[in-house]
Amino acid sequence: MKEVLSKLKHEALEQIKEIKTLINLEDIRVTYLSKKGHISLMMGKLRELPNEERPSFGQMVNSVKQEVELAIYNKKQMLEEKALLETLKNEHIDPTLDGYLYYQGSTHPLNQVIQDVEDLFVGMGYTVEEGPELENDLYNFEMMNLDKDHPARDMQDTFFIDDTMLLRTHTSPVQARTMLKMKGKPLSIICPGKVYRRDDDDPTHSHQFMQIEGLVIDTNITFAHLKDALLTMCQHLFGHDREIRLRPSYFPFTEPSVEVDVSYIKKDGTKGYIEILGAGLVHPNVLKMGGYDPKVYKGYAFGIGVERIAILKYKIDDIRHFYMNDIRFLNQFKGVDKS
Ligand code: DAH
Repeated sequence: MKEVLSKLKHEALEQIKEIKTLINLEDIRVTYLSKKGHISLMMGKLRELPNEERPSFGQMVNSVKQEVELAIYNKKQMLEEKALLETLKNEHIDPTLDGYLYYQGSTHPLNQVIQDVEDLFVGMGYTVEEGPELENDLYNFEMMNLDKDHPARDMQDTFFIDDTMLLRTHTSPVQARTMLKMKGKPLSIICPGKVYRRDDDDPTHSHQFMQIEGLVIDTNITFAHLKDALLTMCQHLFGHDREIRLRPSYFPFTEPSVEVDVSYIKKDGTKGYIEILGAGLVHPNVLKMGGYDPKVYKGYAFGIGVERIAILKYKIDDIRHFYMNDIRFLNQFKGVDKS
């Protein structure tokens, strides 16, 4: 029996030595070492031996097994290394070839402005609110102090879906929604979002654009708080050397109301002002309808046109560029706003 085993061993080792491919090597492993392989089957022969010879024969089978395993392992390493060297020799890498060009997207300039303004106000304790684009007349107009036949409704002619639902004309309805949600508690919010107006599109007008609404309600709000918030925002967006100018204006939902201009230096070196947003102290009727007692609470509000900020900031000559998805335009805003 021992001779058979040692013959098997030599036979296996001899074959391993001769083998030239990994596949053939695997065949040998199966032939000798798998469950039904020649060497493994020798274990079954133990029973045919007298008791005293069994342990030494068992050990011998095991050591033959290990020896053959080791030989296969070494041969495998050798063949794999040889294969690798062969591949390296045949594969010519040309490091001068152009690589593939992967297009990487970037944040849209309008969203960059929104994120920038959000970061600023969140840092000052405001929370960010959202409202639906398909809005109820109640929130868009009535609760903003524009009742059914208010003449100022004409300034915001829009798309009505039926008698009560419309595409919101501004982000101001989120003021009403948030007031009702907060049930008379002080609040500081900003709300970015899309708005719609019936308009003929041209370089400065679009039937759809974006706004950021701001609303703060508390017991001790004065006009000075509003002015401070607006100056902080303008200087954050355009630079710390900027000034703001407030002009009296009219909005049904604020009293007093102002139009806010930001300063800039003209080509001839003199100072000019450009209008960038509307603001004011929240009208008592708006507070009342929102569930706040105007004798106790005051508020300020503002509404910014996001496109207008981006146009001024990035010197863009046509509002329609924002909506065309032309990557030649969009690629110019990669990472520009991470100040
Ligand atoms: N909702 C106004 C508009 O779209 C903008 C605005 C003006 C919002 C004054 C305000 C505000 O909150 O106080 O024209």
